[in-house]
Amino acid sequence: MSTQELNRKFIEKYGESTEETRVFYAPGRVNLIGEHLDYNGGYVLPAALEFGTFLFVRPRSDSKVQFASTNLPYEASLDLSEIGNKSGEWIDYPVGVLVELAKKDLKLQHGYDLLFHGDIPNGSGLSSSASIEVVTAFAFLTLLGGDTDTVEIALLSQRVENQYVGVNSGIMDQFAVANGKRDHAILLMCDTLEYSLIPFVTGSYKLVIGNTNKKRGLVDSKYNERRSQCDEALAILKQEVPELSYLAELKPEQFEIHKDKITDETVRRRAKHVVEENQRVLDSVEVLKANNLKQFGQYMNDSHVSLRDLYEVSCLELDVMVEEAQKIPGTLGARMTGAGFGGCTVSLVHEDDVERFISEVGAAYTERTGLTGEFYVCGIGNGVEELKGAN
Ligand code: GLA
Repeated sequence: MSTQELNRKFIEKYGESTEETRVFYAPGRVNLIGEHLDYNGGYVLPAALEFGTFLFVRPRSDSKVQFASTNLPYEASLDLSEIGNKSGEWIDYPVGVLVELAKKDLKLQHGYDLLFHGDIPNGSGLSSSASIEVVTAFAFLTLLGGDTDTVEIALLSQRVENQYVGVNSGIMDQFAVANGKRDHAILLMCDTLEYSLIPFVTGSYKLVIGNTNKKRGLVDSKYNERRSQCDEALAILKQEVPELSYLAELKPEQFEIHKDKITDETVRRRAKHVVEENQRVLDSVEVLKANNLKQFGQYMNDSHVSLRDLYEVSCLELDVMVEEAQKIPGTLGARMTGAGFGGCTVSLVHEDDVERFISEVGAAYTERTGLTGEFYVCGIGNGVEELKGAN
């Protein structure tokens, strides 16, 4: 839908006004490599997608804040005094942002009309919720004259997710959505939040995202279980390496020396994934700088194996899609992306083979799982921004 069409929808919904409607946008994200490392103080390599969430917003003269979306089924009109009441609906994301802003003395003084439009497939692990949080934070910081520093916006949005929505996620998603740059991956050190933009120039290769359309069951409880297993491993290894503050700080060679101190075999496997995946991110950056996409593809494959066998956050559907993707001759690498237990895969595929990839992987996937996958050929886009003159 074009921004002009969205503007018409906005007026259909909220009517005309002399106040200006402003338009903001934040993307979704894909993680290229470095999974389950953000809460372990490691490196991650995500990128912003070319699809995301638009927010049209216009001041009102009364005290109502109205929320609607073109793609999500729930709507609400809240009085300013009701901001902070949780609904269990998608509006908890933008409402949570307003609650966080109020803590920074940025309270709304009057109402607003808000219309969201997202073209990220919901619940697919491409960070549609982070995209809503970040676009809302950026929009209201702009409207209220606050600081629009995008690192602070990522942190604020993560607090919304952790404290208001109640999902214990790391910083990666919000950070990528807030700080993405066209044709670049973001190398983020999740402990210090130092980051650099790495040109992701893939020439005749395309990123293909495959949505398994498998509902991500139990993802929150399994996610939290992985987090506590990592904490357990850290506590044990800290006795050997006292200066260790995060699991991902350990080099693979150090891990080999101390690993037997972790007697629980499952916990040991979780830690091994973290340590080796972190090294893979650093190695990936080197090979990307040297334009060695083939080796990068190999690291993607290795990452999937580790997530499947050591961290155990994959599932049949993700494994089948990755396996079928790897059978296509033009595929350099394929892996699950995001938290796991369903959601999406990401593959690097030669442009001449993309059509074949979509039809053959799609057919085999359906045959083996009974589900219909969806595929998106994606470019890397920008992070959050105001779209001036878009309406
Ligand atoms: C989810 C979380 C992120 C990160 C990934 C796994 O997307 O929101 O913080 O932990 O899983 O890498």
